[in-house]
Amino acid sequence: MDTSTSYLGLRLPHPFIAGASPMGRRLDSVKRLEDAGWAAIVLHSLFEEQITDATEGRIRHMDPLDRGFARELAYFPGAGDYPLGPDAYAEHVSHLKRAVAIPVIASLNGSSPESWLKFARIIEQAGADALELNLYEVVTSFAVPAATVEQKLAGIVTELKRILTIPIAVKVSPFFTAFGNVARRLEAAGADGLVLFNRFYQPDIDIKTMTPVVNVALSDSSELRLRLQWLAILHGRVRPSLAVSGGVATPDDGIKAILAGADAVQIVSALLRHGPTYLNAMRAGLERWMAWHHMEWLEEVRGKASLERVADAESFERAQYIRTLQSWLG
Ligand SMILES: Cc1cc2nc3c(=O)[nH]c(=O)nc-3n(C[C@H](O)[C@H](O)[C@H](O)COP(=O)(O)O)c2cc1C
Repeated sequence: MDTSTSYLGLRLPHPFIAGASPMGRRLDSVKRLEDAGWAAIVLHSLFEEQITDATEGRIRHMDPLDRGFARELAYFPGAGDYPLGPDAYAEHVSHLKRAVAIPVIASLNGSSPESWLKFARIIEQAGADALELNLYEVVTSFAVPAATVEQKLAGIVTELKRILTIPIAVKVSPFFTAFGNVARRLEAAGADGLVLFNRFYQPDIDIKTMTPVVNVALSDSSELRLRLQWLAILHGRVRPSLAVSGGVATPDDGIKAILAGADAVQIVSALLRHGPTYLNAMRAGLERWMAWHHMEWLEEVRGKASLERVADAESFERAQYIRTLQSWLG
């Protein structure tokens, strides 16, 4: 049985990748992932704010010496609160590349098409096999229209493609009015892969203190459905390879993601919950399922439940929506 796959032009023995998380911070935990058999690892992110702070002495448009920004700047962690500064991050990539054989995908996290992107060259020179660009942004301005936001995101990818030779995956949010068009624009900008989707860490509210509470909640399978829907819509219709990120909690979830059209399956919450050896269950589940269905190649599985052959996906989606509501038998 052959479960090998291609993601960002990287040939992988199977589709399961350790997604961006604290597991990438230390050499010993990356080694544990390699020993357990993970196909590749995405490192934790280096943030735009860290790079501009270190190289230009500002965070976003704010100069830390300007008292007018004291309140906004206090929201950000101090330079020493990040696990690795920009130079240390590049060194870390270089160490990892000497220590492990699995592909190492570095992660840059930001939202402006500015000078910090040049740091990507340093990460490439450090030996990263690919770059995942996390375009995390919550646009709160009432003056900026969606088209401007989308153009800016595509512009960041265009700029990076000009300076890099390694492949670039773009991790984006699902909250676009017409995500198919956004995917096309990222493709036209040169994106080699799309990671569906960023998970937003929406704050809760503490009713005792009446203040927002920020904490990381690990995901469960319920988050997968949104990803399945867009994988199924995009599969076969865009050139970049597709990775799922979000809600792959069980071996069945992994199979569903591939059936919808994923080339690679990124896992974080299940990895943090169960440890690196959870990969064995993910691989065994997929292989057992393929054997049961007499399938020998992952290619036979991929996209089998996608909308690739549906002529009018929009009508299909609408029909499924109506059917869903009608299916309630109460
Ligand atoms: C503790 C923690 C740290 C994370 N750090 C990063 C990060 O540095 N960069 C990033 O792009 N995503 C980060 N993520 C998001 C994950 O890569 C992933 O997209 C998200 O957890 C959804 O996948 P999952 O359902 O398998 O957990 C982090 C997630 C967790 C739980």
